[in-house]
Amino acid sequence: MTVTEVTGKAVRATDRAAIDARIAACGAERVVVDLGAGDGLWAYRSARADAQAFVIAIDPVAENLAEASAKAAKKPERGGAPNAMFVVAAVESLPGDLAAVADELRVTLPWGSLMRGIILGDAAALAGIAGLLRPGATCRIVLNTRIFDDPVPIDARDLPEVTPGYVEETLVTRFAAAGLDITATRFLDAGEVAAIGTTWAKRLSHRRPPRSVLIEARRTATP
Ligand SMILES: C[S@@+](CC[C@H](N)C(=O)[O-])C[C@H]1O[C@@H](n2cnc3c(N)ncnc32)[C@H](O)[C@@H]1O
Repeated sequence: MTVTEVTGKAVRATDRAAIDARIAACGAERVVVDLGAGDGLWAYRSARADAQAFVIAIDPVAENLAEASAKAAKKPERGGAPNAMFVVAAVESLPGDLAAVADELRVTLPWGSLMRGIILGDAAALAGIAGLLRPGATCRIVLNTRIFDDPVPIDARDLPEVTPGYVEETLVTRFAAAGLDITATRFLDAGEVAAIGTTWAKRLSHRRPPRSVLIEARRTATP
């Protein structure tokens, strides 16, 4: 399945051959994917800061990606980032043309079905994440556990509270079944959340101290 790319307000289809050609033309040494990228600004800034990385922001809401993708499309001397790309897709329906594209993957402070899928260790969500990763590639997920404070949002009321203990007891097995070895899990402190640098990480850090759980995982050769 081809990839739906956003550039400002324009949306068009592209494919893996074209993406691989862009990665090669940039001279990037690794591909970083930001899944549930929100406004895509972290991807844009990361691409500007690191010419060795080709950064792909993925989010189901095309309008969210409009501003960052328009900035990236400018000439490099005017703030452009040819090593950034913005894709409309949800974890449940990722295009096959992005299979095993990533050397590193991030999911930062997800909500909706991306958050639920990860917290529940849902096979479809984890297959989507694992499918983006090359064998040996790493994945860094940060979950906001403040959602379990009163009043708990309706879509989180039936979810188990995420702690490192919950990850070890329940998610390690479910991730392993999807081909993801969990290598570390711990709470992050407020400074660490702020340092992530995404819009929501900064927003949460400005409110009461965030409480977040980090899950690091590595893609095994086969699930
Ligand atoms: C709180 S925002 C975080 C955005 C960004 N990662 C940040 O830290 O600023 C959560 C994002 O998850 C995305 N999201 C929700 N469900 C998703 C799904 N099923 N697949 C991919 N992304 C999803 C939303 O569109 C939204 O942009």
